[in-house]
Amino acid sequence: MYIAILGRQPALGTAELERVFGGHNVSPLAPQVVNIDTDNFDVQRFGGVLKAGKVIAEVNRNDWHQISQKIIQHYSDEWSSFGGKITLGISAYNLRVNARDVQKVGIVLKQKLKKSGVSLRLIPNSDLALSTATSHHNKLGLSANKVELMIVAGTNGKAIIAESTGSQNITAYAKRDQGRPKRDAFVGMLPPKLAQIMINLAALPNDADHQATILDPFCGTGVVLQEAVLMGYAAYGTDLSVKMIDYSHENLQWLDDSFRKQFKVRLHPGDAMTTKWQQPIDAVVGETYLGQPFSAPPSPAKLEEVVKNCNYIITEFLRNLGSQVKPGTPVCIAVPAWRDKDGRFTHLPLIATIARYGYRPHEFMNVSQNDLLYFREDQIVARELLVLTKVD
Ligand SMILES: C[S@@+](CC[C@H](N)C(=O)[O-])C[C@H]1O[C@@H](n2cnc3c(N)ncnc32)[C@H](O)[C@@H]1O
Repeated sequence: MYIAILGRQPALGTAELERVFGGHNVSPLAPQVVNIDTDNFDVQRFGGVLKAGKVIAEVNRNDWHQISQKIIQHYSDEWSSFGGKITLGISAYNLRVNARDVQKVGIVLKQKLKKSGVSLRLIPNSDLALSTATSHHNKLGLSANKVELMIVAGTNGKAIIAESTGSQNITAYAKRDQGRPKRDAFVGMLPPKLAQIMINLAALPNDADHQATILDPFCGTGVVLQEAVLMGYAAYGTDLSVKMIDYSHENLQWLDDSFRKQFKVRLHPGDAMTTKWQQPIDAVVGETYLGQPFSAPPSPAKLEEVVKNCNYIITEFLRNLGSQVKPGTPVCIAVPAWRDKDGRFTHLPLIATIARYGYRPHEFMNVSQNDLLYFREDQIVARELLVLTKVD
């Protein structure tokens, strides 16, 4: 059993975990924390997960004294003859304690271990939980002597103690985002984390014998293609703009060189409304045309015009795609949704009638369609994720 600490928009993390592990294996534990019933969990594959941990104990009552005693007893025994220095961080989630209470557990443990001749470096807590950056830079969870304990008070009244198995590699994400040779602020590049989430939402089996192909029909600078090949898939990108195909080509060449690997990629220009794609296409993942960017909410007339335009392009794309992919093909696309000054969204009309174009929306157990929106507080154009399956 694992726990996952979810990112800024927890519904997105919950959704990708549901798609990969099955809805019945993912259960909410606390705000921003879920339990996952699995024997294996690689945090680096999940854009919506900040930290992962293997559950080592469950405490029946959500009582800090009992929890802290359990930790001190368990680790002073387990580490009493540890060879070498231990680095320890402790993070508490959803508990009614303060950072000093959390730190105190580490201090008592450090004193006990000192008596056994074992040296422990305790990472200071300025908050209840260590930030992802602190966990990452201290390499917590990545070796036996670098440990992060994660204590979560569940909404069911029980508490879970887990040992971290790693946190998001923010250095690698920054390289895959800002390190790429070709970027284009105008097309609005997708953050690599969101590309990973979308690929996971497509829930394509990862079979080493038959490398599945992911098509991005609006590939832009190639972020989805990049994340797809890094996750072991073959990538196929098309875009209306020849310049974007060149950018994707250069970025993927850079990826080949950086990872010293020959990734399997196909690229060519094409209008998503009319292109005839090459087969095979095992899944479709992409960020469609989002319309023009706005720095302030547009007038009602302008909004109507942009919604109409985007709705037309994306509907025609879905029709064209639907005539070329097999029933059962998973499709995860990011489409625009516009936020007004009160935080209300205008959605694309096609979402309500998606069945007409031959697609069935996926039903999640813990997440509703309205939660699948990715945006920052200052953004007018949000990305709405549609998780679909092509039907007959
Ligand atoms: C929001 S951007 C995608 C950005 C991409 N995810 C990236 O990370 O760079 C949308 C892309 O759709 C392309 N586009 C617009 N209309 C299109 C159409 N009818 N067919 C294919 N591509 C189109 C644009 O050239 C642009 O690259």
